[in-house]
Amino acid sequence: METQNTQSTEQMFTMPRIGENAPAFTAVTTQGEINFPKDYEGKWVILFSHPADFTPVCTSEFMTFASMEKQFNDAGCDLVGLSVDGLYSHIAWLRTIKEKIEFKGMKNVEVNFPLIEDITMDVAKKYGMMMPGESNTKAVRAVFFIDPKGIIRTIIYYPLSLGRNFDELYRVLIALKTADEFSVATPADWRPGDDVIVPTAGSCGVAKERMDSEDEELDCKDWFFCTKKLDKDLVLSKTTRI
Ligand code: BEZ
Repeated sequence: METQNTQSTEQMFTMPRIGENAPAFTAVTTQGEINFPKDYEGKWVILFSHPADFTPVCTSEFMTFASMEKQFNDAGCDLVGLSVDGLYSHIAWLRTIKEKIEFKGMKNVEVNFPLIEDITMDVAKKYGMMMPGESNTKAVRAVFFIDPKGIIRTIIYYPLSLGRNFDELYRVLIALKTADEFSVATPADWRPGDDVIVPTAGSCGVAKERMDSEDEELDCKDWFFCTKKLDKDLVLSKTTRI
């Protein structure tokens, strides 16, 4: 009996981590069945959960994310939503959003990305989206950034009451792609066009060599803090279709 309890607790609290393979699952969605993350191989994908259909904060989030979907797609990233509601609830909610809801100048918003039905909570538990301290019956607002190889690269969690900042989610995506493309790291509040950190954390020895080598590109304040310019248009040309 004790073992059984331990297993179910473990199952409830399993959390994938940054750097790990995204846990695989198949699911029914508003756009048909998906095989995750296999169907998204070769692309970035954001898997995000919301607490419940027909709730106001979630509605404002879906309208915002749907309105920005093209921007994410143009950066090579697909969106996949999830809540522990059923398919017919999802369909009815998305139809109501399109027909009735106006928010911050957005109206007639159509949600074209897949929304997973997860009544069993299997996927939500696999991805650590259930946080019993917050709710036993609703997923928190989790965001998983998964790269083209199916590796989890960033995880962000918000509580039930707090709507996400979708400009920040876009900034994270571009920063991750910039780090990969240019082998750099991005400092606090970085946006395309700002200086980047060279080299990435953990290779301080290289930084010292570079500092001593009088590399004109680098601006080293000390052995551990070197930045360089990275042109905004170059960043955007390598990370988006802009
Ligand atoms: C909302 O999306 O409005 C919401 C959902 C669950 C709990 C609290 C708020």
